[in-house]
Amino acid sequence: MTRKIILDTDPGVGIPGTDADDPIALLLALADPRLDLLAVTTTFGNCPPELGARGAAAVLAAAGRPDIPVGVGRGTPIARDLPGVLRDAYDGERGREGAIALPQIDAGAAPTAVELIIETVRRHPGEVTIVAVGPQTNLAEALAQAPDIADAIESIVFMGGALGREPVYGRGNITPVAECNIWFDPEAADQVFRAGVPLTMVSLDVTSPASGVVLAADTIRSWEPTSTATRLLAEICSTYLDRPMFEWADGCVLYDPLAVAVAADGALGRFEDLLVGVETNGDLTTGQTVELRDGDPNLRALVEVDGPRVVDHMVDTLFTHL
Ligand code: RIB
Ligand code: CA
Repeated sequence: MTRKIILDTDPGVGIPGTDADDPIALLLALADPRLDLLAVTTTFGNCPPELGARGAAAVLAAAGRPDIPVGVGRGTPIARDLPGVLRDAYDGERGREGAIALPQIDAGAAPTAVELIIETVRRHPGEVTIVAVGPQTNLAEALAQAPDIADAIESIVFMGGALGREPVYGRGNITPVAECNIWFDPEAADQVFRAGVPLTMVSLDVTSPASGVVLAADTIRSWEPTSTATRLLAEICSTYLDRPMFEWADGCVLYDPLAVAVAADGALGRFEDLLVGVETNGDLTTGQTVELRDGDPNLRALVEVDGPRVVDHMVDTLFTHL
């Protein structure tokens, strides 16, 4: 029995200064036999959503799955301007094709990310899990435009937030208390957290070098790719090693692939039911995900994982099935 998923992602493919984990997550979603990838939707974050869609198309083509539809999301948060840090980055290297050639796409002819989410969920009511590994803009828009889908989404597994449980990495990566997927569009995350959809949180506390969720540089350098898709995987990882986004580890931190792995195996680690809110108004704390004391849980958070074991399994899956 496979689990139907939509991957909502911000994949920078070969673009210097972007994280490599989104395209790795996409490759893992394609490779894991427990998952049935129905659609890819792109959001802003690592790069603008149109460029992300071209990256996704490159990955899908390399994996022999150009039939999977890609929907392009909006390029700004739902209630704010694009943060200056992203505006500047998109005016530079993160706004254009990098070392890996990307296909052109006709974004006007394709469904938007929001249309694709709504249409896919309605076609398979109760069966679709959305794995969201970027800012939650598309999800919030889809839920606002089609409130009926809240009951029809099986679950949302998201990479985002920081609960402060892991003392070094579990705090914030874009501010001292906020993780970037939530910080880039806090109002969207706030709406998703309140939507009543079953949520699973995969936060910085577990997607970190402290948990061992790292694809080591030595492992990447030792690969001998055997297919077009694994060749692209190796190229994406090498591009990242040349220009890592954070100097957290000698290798790629697998934030987003861990969310895909959780969608494939809901018993991957230890989970806790929590009530978590998103700060949308703080002068210093916008985007913080706060564990609240009173009230019913709104999500299940992964709080402990055997990172090295999970990473070994991911690499095995990628090289066996791609
Ligand atoms: O904070 C980690 C998140 O932002 C991941 O989704 C990764 O892709 C990064 O850019
Ligand atoms: Ca991401």
